[in-house]
Amino acid sequence: MSIDRYLRKNIKDSPAYDGVDPSDKLSDESGITSEEIIKLNANENPFGSELNLTKNLSQINIHEYPDPNQKRLRKALSDYTGAKFEKIVASSGSDELIDILIRLFLEPNDKLIDAQPTFGMYEFFAKIQGAEVVSVKRGKDFGLDLEGITKILDDKTKMIFIASPNNPTGNIVEKEELIYLLKQNIIVVVDETYFEFCGQSYMNLIDDFENLIIIRSFSKWAGLAGLRLGYAITNTEIIKRIIQIKQPYNINSAAEFVAIEAMKNKEKLYEKVKILMEQKDMIYSFLKKKNGIKVYKSNANFVLCDLGKLNANEIFDGLASKGIFVRKFSNQFIDNSLRISAGTPDQTRKLLQELDLLI
Ligand SMILES: Cc1ncc(COP(=O)(O)O)c(C=O)c1O
Repeated sequence: MSIDRYLRKNIKDSPAYDGVDPSDKLSDESGITSEEIIKLNANENPFGSELNLTKNLSQINIHEYPDPNQKRLRKALSDYTGAKFEKIVASSGSDELIDILIRLFLEPNDKLIDAQPTFGMYEFFAKIQGAEVVSVKRGKDFGLDLEGITKILDDKTKMIFIASPNNPTGNIVEKEELIYLLKQNIIVVVDETYFEFCGQSYMNLIDDFENLIIIRSFSKWAGLAGLRLGYAITNTEIIKRIIQIKQPYNINSAAEFVAIEAMKNKEKLYEKVKILMEQKDMIYSFLKKKNGIKVYKSNANFVLCDLGKLNANEIFDGLASKGIFVRKFSNQFIDNSLRISAGTPDQTRKLLQELDLLI
């Protein structure tokens, strides 16, 4: 039996997203208990949410649907970000916004510019939509190749996502580069999923450019990756359109409740953000001293390094055999590189100990 003849053509042709393995699977495959696994492969926050939620969670009315207009949550997000209520909408992770925005703006066969290497979800959702993904390789130290991007602009080119800091390279987009792109008559989404680690935002440009959308997440800084909570900041017209096509109950009641608690306790969470950035700096300095390894400066809670003459797969396997899991890539531009997320001080100590034996 084959259902292929019923399927949309571009679904047949698009690969599944290669997401990171969860701790259970890593534990099953490695034979190392999940408590002993050091998971540095998804830029998560190993401190967790640090919130004492057990008592409070019982207040949630889980038999009722959550508010489709997300009033309480948007109000809290407005206080947290300083953007007006009507310029914010929440999503199930920033992933959901990538999907919604692509469906809002790209017709099949429109073009999405993909500044490679970058986060894989932009390409993934664009392909499902039937859009054409045009890769433009980033330049030195992974800065944007504006000349290369300009060359491909035509009336089918509608959209670009720029992660700032970029995953997996860690660099931020310069203001002049962003303004140049905003003047090109395309939708520009600045993905600030790692905003709290670098403190730099382009949110203040949304009133000057109608084509600018900022997206953010609670997955990393707030340690809430498992609850799925993100949000967009943009002009009211675009917010209305996002609300028009989003699932009405896209934010589950637990995620709404916990995100509001996280914002109330932001100072406590920022302390952990600071510790993670210190760990990231330690990993960077360690790798920087190693001959033949190129490590890139990062404004987020991870570092990318090119292993040079060493084999990234072998280093990956060596770490994995000790229960330490980092991220490797099949992307042609970084196929001998590893991305290492910052962990707790104890995890960093173990990581560097093992890396020292391997490199
Ligand atoms: C640049 C970037 N954008 C978006 C996401 C997705 O985040 P979320 O968990 O909020 O869906 C990630 C996750 O790794 C990311 O690195």
